[in-house]
Amino acid sequence: MPLLGLGLYRADDARLAVSNAASMGYRLFDTASSYRNEEEVGLGLKDSGLSREDVFVTTKLWNTAQRLGNIEGAFTRSLERLGLSYVDLYLVHWPVPGLILDTWHILEDIYRSGRARAIGVCNFTEADLAELLSHSSVVPAVNQIEYHPLFQRPSLISFCQANGIAVQASCPLARGAYLGREMLVKLAEKYHRSPAQIGLRWLVQQGISVIPKSTSLDRQLENTQIFDFMLTEAEMAMIGTLSEHFSVLNPPEDLLV
Ligand SMILES: NC(=O)c1ccc[n+]([C@@H]2O[C@H](COP(=O)([O-])OP(=O)(O)OC[C@H]3O[C@@H](n4cnc5c(N)ncnc54)[C@H](OP(=O)(O)O)[C@@H]3O)[C@@H](O)[C@H]2O)c1
Repeated sequence: MPLLGLGLYRADDARLAVSNAASMGYRLFDTASSYRNEEEVGLGLKDSGLSREDVFVTTKLWNTAQRLGNIEGAFTRSLERLGLSYVDLYLVHWPVPGLILDTWHILEDIYRSGRARAIGVCNFTEADLAELLSHSSVVPAVNQIEYHPLFQRPSLISFCQANGIAVQASCPLARGAYLGREMLVKLAEKYHRSPAQIGLRWLVQQGISVIPKSTSLDRQLENTQIFDFMLTEAEMAMIGTLSEHFSVLNPPEDLLV
């Protein structure tokens, strides 16, 4: 899985966003059935002219399909909308209480069928993962969780890494919330970068995959320029002090009962 990808939540004109990003080197594209843009993403991939094996496509299973038990149908429809015969990563979008294991066992079948090259989860806590791991044969390849300088989750990340689960940061820019922080602005000046690039660099330097969303050509490009400089250990630790458990991601209403 590439360390950098394009997030597509609330992406206006996802078709153009995907083909533009592909032309500047993006190879990972992160969508979901709930984003209602899988069709556009599929068209953008076609427009890009890239071969199927050169792109990494992630989509996600929504909660309703878990509740209805119609996971195979939801997955097939995602593939149809994307115009693909397989996805590289199929993720459970949210842990639905009481359904974690049933859902996962169906994803294991999908994985074994070869139509998802890897399966994983999003927004799973350590307790959710422990439940899943103790009753399943396939370890989730990925846990996609909100993670950025203002919301650091060392114990969840250590748990994932100790169990061979890659961490992928959703909302890696905290939707802009940390871009004005003085410490990041100063580091940006030092490295002739932007605060967004400093935040993304801090994540990838920890081996965490990032999927910033942008539909602007300039910002898409800016977000790729994070692999040609390095923060010092002291700077990594300094950014570590910014954590204030600030989350931009609200769990969906159907999970708030
Ligand atoms: N699994 C889950 O439950 C879950 C939850 C949330 C998100 N995600 C995934 O993670 C992706 C990223 O999260 P997100 O979209 O919520 O938030 P984000 O990537 O943290 O922030 C996106 C916002 O930042 C702006 N932006 C992008 N690059 C920038 C830059 N270099 N400088 C300044 N502003 C910049 C974007 O605007 P412009 O487009 O105008 O540039 C957009 O408003 C999503 O798109 C989705 O694929 C998954």
